[in-house]
Amino acid sequence: MTLSSTNELDLIVKPASPEQVVATWRRTHVVWGKKLTLEKYLEREQVLSHAAFTGPNLTVYVLVPRSQPDTLDMLAHCDVFKRPCLVYSVPATNAPSEKLDNGSSTESEALPSGTPSNRPTQGDAYSIASVFCPHKYRGRGYASLMMKLVYQHLQSQPNALVSTLYSDVGPKFYARQGWDTYRAFHYEIKVPSSPASTEEIGDRVEWLTSNNVDELVQQDCRQLSDKVQALALGTNPVTSPSPGGRYLLILPNNATMEWHWLRAQFVGPALGYTQPERFGCKITAPTGTLSVPSFILWIHDFVTKELHVLRTHWNHEHDQKLLLTAAVEEARQCGLGKVIVWKVDHPSLFVSEGPRIIPEELPVEWKVKEVERIDSLPAVAWFASEEHQSEGPLTWLCNDRYGWV
Ligand SMILES: CC(C)(COP(=O)(O)OP(=O)(O)OC[C@H]1O[C@@H](n2cnc3c(N)ncnc32)[C@H](O)[C@@H]1OP(=O)(O)O)[C@@H](O)C(=O)NCCC(=O)NCCS
Repeated sequence: MTLSSTNELDLIVKPASPEQVVATWRRTHVVWGKKLTLEKYLEREQVLSHAAFTGPNLTVYVLVPRSQPDTLDMLAHCDVFKRPCLVYSVPATNAPSEKLDNGSSTESEALPSGTPSNRPTQGDAYSIASVFCPHKYRGRGYASLMMKLVYQHLQSQPNALVSTLYSDVGPKFYARQGWDTYRAFHYEIKVPSSPASTEEIGDRVEWLTSNNVDELVQQDCRQLSDKVQALALGTNPVTSPSPGGRYLLILPNNATMEWHWLRAQFVGPALGYTQPERFGCKITAPTGTLSVPSFILWIHDFVTKELHVLRTHWNHEHDQKLLLTAAVEEARQCGLGKVIVWKVDHPSLFVSEGPRIIPEELPVEWKVKEVERIDSLPAVAWFASEEHQSEGPLTWLCNDRYGWV
């Protein structure tokens, strides 16, 4: 299967053969695997390629001459991950939706796929990573052509709602091919050398490991879907959606989290660290509480020596400090120097869904800094134009690190 045909040199984009996939890994080692030996990097990619998040959901696309589709001298390549998302757009007039008229409940029954309406639609997001062109071919437009062809292909997939990526090459390169790129900020917390006092973490925190986290992650996905429904119905207690606005939520599901954690479990020991076991914590909720407990999930990045928060939710503002204290303590015990917390867009829509760090309220020794990112700039191509035609401003809900690939 090829994606397109007509361009000057008769180049095509097609899914890589198994040999081509391994050839892409060999090339990208110098950019994304520097601290690992080539052997370890190839092994890591092999391990990750069998995760639930990847498997049939990951396609590596290569740009090659039509006459040599199996060449290992590819002109450019990229990885594309298919994952579930919800999108919603508000009519410019803010006319009430069909469901609002019916006064139905906000419970999230299965959402329809591809229904033309002003209700949220569940479908596929295509997240792109590892866009690469070898040195000898750079500056000739190959990566741009590949992105153009990949865009056309993804847009035509059944159930395709968006494509997302995080740009390490600024906003222009991807914007030219159809991915709108946004500014992004994060908080940096310096990890102190002394341990947190036990009272600070105390009995209220339960550590999360890959063995006891699945149900919480599922609950979280359900509550977020419900909140998008509530937004569409106008029953979100915090705010009404803005007329003409578009909303995107990438679901933070178990497959996504497992993929992140597999990386840390592989890379830690490969670089001489102890294999991490704790991937977050939750604050023990009183028995009988129905809501999702306050929690935080993270990944250890042993290459940059940072702990990255993947996702957090809290029910009370004061829970946030306890969750971050646990994250800082985990980083300290694992020999990591910083905790990085992405500043999540538009927290007011999803009260208690994103970090709203107030540095003055946190320990001074953490030296909390807000930083505008130059890497990992979020970018979105909106494909859901049939059901959600608005061209108004886009809000990427819970745009937290879990969505990064
Ligand atoms: C980025 C990359 C894929 C571009 O490949 P390419 O085939 O040379 O790209 P094209 O010829 O289609 O386009 C080149 C444009 O990209 C821009 N570009 C390339 N690298 C860039 C960078 N690091 N930062 C900003 N812009 C960059 C060029 O300035 C050029 O812009 P211009 O046309 O305005 O002069 C290639 O340089 C690469 O593989 N880099 C290493 C891996 C990487 O960083 N990938 C991106 C991850 S998000």
